[in-house]
Amino acid sequence: MDKTLISVHHRPQWRTHIGFLLATIGSAVGLGNIWRFPYLCYQNGGGAFLIPYLIALLLIGIPLMILEIGLGHKVRGSAPASFASINKHWEWLGWWQVIFVMFGIVLYYSVIISWCLNYLVFSFNLSWGANPGDFFFKQFLHKSARPFPLGNIRTQVLFALGAVWFLNWIIVFRGVEKGLEKANKIFMPLLFLLTLIITIWSLFLPGAKQGILVYVRPDFFKLKDITVWIAAFSQIFFTLSLGFGIIIAYASYLPRKSAIVKDAIAVSFANSLFSIIAGFGVFAVLGYMSYTTGRPINQVVDKAIGLSFVVYPKAISMLPALSQVFGVIFFGILFIAGLSSSISIIEAFTSGIVDKFGYSRRSVVSYLCVAGFLGSLIFATEAGLVLLDIVDHFLTQYGLVIGAILECILLGWVYKPKMLRGHINSASHLHLPRWWDFLIKVVAPGVLIVLLSRALIQEFSSPYQNYPAVALILVGRDWLVYTLFAAFIVASRPWQRKLSI
Ligand code: TRP
Repeated sequence: MDKTLISVHHRPQWRTHIGFLLATIGSAVGLGNIWRFPYLCYQNGGGAFLIPYLIALLLIGIPLMILEIGLGHKVRGSAPASFASINKHWEWLGWWQVIFVMFGIVLYYSVIISWCLNYLVFSFNLSWGANPGDFFFKQFLHKSARPFPLGNIRTQVLFALGAVWFLNWIIVFRGVEKGLEKANKIFMPLLFLLTLIITIWSLFLPGAKQGILVYVRPDFFKLKDITVWIAAFSQIFFTLSLGFGIIIAYASYLPRKSAIVKDAIAVSFANSLFSIIAGFGVFAVLGYMSYTTGRPINQVVDKAIGLSFVVYPKAISMLPALSQVFGVIFFGILFIAGLSSSISIIEAFTSGIVDKFGYSRRSVVSYLCVAGFLGSLIFATEAGLVLLDIVDHFLTQYGLVIGAILECILLGWVYKPKMLRGHINSASHLHLPRWWDFLIKVVAPGVLIVLLSRALIQEFSSPYQNYPAVALILVGRDWLVYTLFAAFIVASRPWQRKLSI
């Protein structure tokens, strides 16, 4: 280990242990838990999907969560500082992760959070009217079918986006303890409470039971299909914020004596539990819709964006009472879940820059949020939804997965997991067994390589969503290439800060 690069002076620290846990859960619980997980269950064998999902959680999710928390805790540095401290030729990997999440994923993620804010306001008078599909795609987004030309920026989205970036800025600007910790201490209990209210409310709607049966009814035959397993593994990955450089940064603010293994397990289970509970709410509402319209569930369900912005608004309008309140709560939940994830990457990026260049944290956050706001404007245009779909596909299917494979190689083979295990065991009560090394060295990268190969085969066999090839190359693939380029450049700059343990 290169002793010159390790750790930072005056590193901020979480004031309380629960503060760290809530912030990490805040990062993990995001839009993906509410609109992606329930749909994945429905599509991939209902209750039977929980089997590959839980296997993925145990086999890869928790072991990698332990790895990232353990590494950040040991090095007390951001992802780039942590990787550089293992081997300085690998510093770029940490930069790549935080750069493509900050200047990729969060740019469109913040636009979706803005839509949630818009819809929260629309809920007051159910502005989507009788045809929420037309309202969303035509009136609200003015969606164009092609990625180019971009078209105009949508004014409503622009204002909401400004508000989202302002909140991102103010929270992270105030620092780890006064900003992130405090915000999550308000956000998370509120999020759990609202989710509980809306789920219980939904369970009492007529037809809810039928909806839930569709959600949980196991179809074990589906488990023979490899795509079901792939869906489970990639969901675990995205939902736990692994390979984002976020968990490493958050763990770097932990005190020396920390229950690393216990925390990793707690965060991972809390996140999955949230998804499963949210799923009950979502399917109860779909059951209610099917009951009122007389159409079967498979005709009312839709995935991801369609579920939240078309199906749900329709259901909200059909509720027997208090539709507006239901709408405000639902979009409020999405908004809070999204925001607590987006602030986490701003922190992860900032801590990388501060670790390396020693700039003032406040100016880094300020510049970053202005850049983030300007960058996300591209997704606030009429072509925004198409571009978002392409960028999301490439960054999550390839960027995250390639980054994580390399992370496993670095930690499993260049740096021996045995050493990290020793550190984790010295800091935490719950001891990590030997076979954890094997999971990091062989199982995790092996599974990820299978995921990646499958995705590549599919990519070459048919262009994603039949979008024009030039758009897929320019906006999708090249986004990865440019961020990689940027990562190499930042990594090649000399360290301005002398870091010592
Ligand atoms: N885990 C989040 C989800 O399930 C995604 C996420 C985590 C994220 N951290 C992020 C997205 C940072 C953007 C930026 O939705």
